[in-house]
Amino acid sequence: MTTDSTNSHGQIDVANADLLLSTTRAVRKRLDLTRPVPRELALECVRISTQSPAGGNYQKWRWVMVDDPEKKLVIAEAYRRTYAPYIEAQKSAVSEKAPDDSTLGKIMSSSDYLAEVLEQVPVLAIPCALGNPAQDGNGDGQGWWGSCIPAVWSYMLAARARGLGTAWTTLHLGGEQEVAEALGIPPTVMQLACVPTAYYTGETFRPGARRPAEEVTYWNEWKNTDIS
Ligand SMILES: Cc1cc2nc3c(=O)[nH]c(=O)nc-3n(C[C@H](O)[C@H](O)[C@H](O)COP(=O)(O)O)c2cc1C
Repeated sequence: MTTDSTNSHGQIDVANADLLLSTTRAVRKRLDLTRPVPRELALECVRISTQSPAGGNYQKWRWVMVDDPEKKLVIAEAYRRTYAPYIEAQKSAVSEKAPDDSTLGKIMSSSDYLAEVLEQVPVLAIPCALGNPAQDGNGDGQGWWGSCIPAVWSYMLAARARGLGTAWTTLHLGGEQEVAEALGIPPTVMQLACVPTAYYTGETFRPGARRPAEEVTYWNEWKNTDIS
């Protein structure tokens, strides 16, 4: 049975839900740097994120929302220090292996832009986990990571639904320590990401380029296809 996407199920309009889930993009060039984001709106996104699943229903994470210009600058400088060598390596790999790949070219130019303007983004949201997987995780920490990551994605989805663009970023973590000091984050707390949050410009986003579901789905047994 396939789902009729024009249907609604209970309170859910499937077409709208799918639109949200498939068009929540990494927004960089379309972040509106001129329009402040009200704290209450950002808080609404956090409120939705608290509904995400977590092992044992322990919400072992917190959000540090940064709208102070000096503190944003600390984060942006840490980000840029890690970004510079990272993107240089990416660019040389791409120019060697896929010089004509315009999609990669666009992602890199958009990434360059975000690195340049990061401190101008109205809110930098830093999701943080209480503890770390080495201390608290079972196995390799799957339960631990699985209890934190959904909250971040829920925040991004809630933001998109409210006209806010976000991008999951991690490169400031090269300077995690100095950011922790600037934000007063204790050593037992692990920063998970930095999610720039701003109103987006323009109206629409399109689904991204992804592998087909049939290619990434196996029924009942692992298929040893190309796993590169
Ligand atoms: C764990 C993780 C780390 C990421 N780190 C960064 C980052 O530091 N900087 C950045 O610009 N984008 C970062 N991204 C965004 C990805 O580049 C983006 O999700 C990917 O290109 C797909 O983009 P799309 O969702 O718009 O199609 C990260 C994404 C994830 C999931």
